[in-house]
Amino acid sequence: MTAPDPALLSACRGRRARVLQQLRAAGGGVAILPTAPEAMRNRDSDYPYRHDSYFYYLTGFTEPEAVLVLVAPAAGPERCILFCRPKHEEREIWDGFRHGPEGAQAAFGFDAAHSVEEIDTLLPPLLANHAVLAYPLAATTRTDMQVRRWLDAVRMQGRAGVTAPATALDIRTILDEMRLFKDAGEIAVMRRAGEISAQAHVRAMRASRQGLREYHLEAELLYEFRRHGAQSVAYNSIVATGANACVLHYRAGPAELRDGDLCLIDAGCELDSYASDITRTFPVSGRFSPAQRELYDLVLAAQEAAIAETRPGVPYNVPHDAATRVLAQGMLDSGLLDANRCGNVDDVLASGAYRQFYMHRTGHWLGMDVHDVGEYRVPGAAPAEGERPWRPLEPGMVLTVEPGIYVRPAPDVPERFWHIGIRIEDDAVVTATGCELITRGVPVKADEIEALMREAGGAR
Ligand code: GLY
Ligand code: MN
Ligand code: MN
Repeated sequence: MTAPDPALLSACRGRRARVLQQLRAAGGGVAILPTAPEAMRNRDSDYPYRHDSYFYYLTGFTEPEAVLVLVAPAAGPERCILFCRPKHEEREIWDGFRHGPEGAQAAFGFDAAHSVEEIDTLLPPLLANHAVLAYPLAATTRTDMQVRRWLDAVRMQGRAGVTAPATALDIRTILDEMRLFKDAGEIAVMRRAGEISAQAHVRAMRASRQGLREYHLEAELLYEFRRHGAQSVAYNSIVATGANACVLHYRAGPAELRDGDLCLIDAGCELDSYASDITRTFPVSGRFSPAQRELYDLVLAAQEAAIAETRPGVPYNVPHDAATRVLAQGMLDSGLLDANRCGNVDDVLASGAYRQFYMHRTGHWLGMDVHDVGEYRVPGAAPAEGERPWRPLEPGMVLTVEPGIYVRPAPDVPERFWHIGIRIEDDAVVTATGCELITRGVPVKADEIEALMREAGGAR
């Protein structure tokens, strides 16, 4: 057991204070936030446990079976209460250390802590006579059923003049907006996660050899993640060679790496609850073919166009639109799209013809979850006509920039491009003046990738 980091605990305390303040502003109320349940994989083998991101964001507490309760009365003192597993000598012999309520209260700085076994008795009185109940609304059946039980218990006191909260609020609407803006401590962890993942990609590139299988390169990635202290992958690693690279959510499998093919790796570690998310595409042999190089340079140019638009004040969709324009023009120039049939670049953008080869968006928010929370459009009500506008980027936001091209065989597509799948993905922190790329510890230019692989492989 390692003691929780004081800087993390202080950040959590500050975040709880902001939630309490918002509850008070909504008329006074109670917030209930459970952590994630444990999940069985098969029979009595469980998946590695991962706490809930929202819960961790407010507590720093990583044990399962815990619930945070924040009480913000319209008037009177606020309270932060933790329910957690009780100490249990025998279970701790089998499963490991538990803080227990007393230990957790002292180590994590809650006003009170109780055994989670007492929650059905202790929670209903906490809800009495408050206007608002905030919790993750309709997120899990278990929580919905618990909340109903607790509210029923309060309503039973109705004849004694006790009222139950009449307004439900999804606590995620408060927390999503907070989590979208990373503080200095979060950015420091994300930088380190990005460095570790970049080193893992370098290791996999250097290991690439004809005859290895995709899962061999996955093993190199995992070795590097764990070697540097990352607790987990942030998502299942994609190692896709040849035609597999055109399957967007492919997993590393047994396919053999072959000279002449590309290998696309989309992999990132999770460090101290924060994700990184990098994609690199490289030739198995260490040398791009002319057709591969042509499309690689196009995807890189699209990424550069998107990165140039990743700065404060620019609406969220602009980097995507910039990348898509470069890709669409390149598809016409390379003959992937037939100009006689598809028209000019504006026609291709208007008709969506580029989607044959580029069917995903250019990025997403990144944070504790790889596809992190946060509104992509300006929060609040939609205007009378049309959709809400795209949200302008602001310092502290973190997002990925990840254009790609995926060419499936088709009669009207030049055969030399068939089965080429390329994506290039980096993680960007929006700064006061532009953005900081935190994953560039692995080369991205084709020449630099070739140089790295040449150096690793001697005479290839
Ligand atoms: N690895 C997931 C993504 O790139 O969105
Ligand atoms: Mn991504
Ligand atoms: Mn990715």
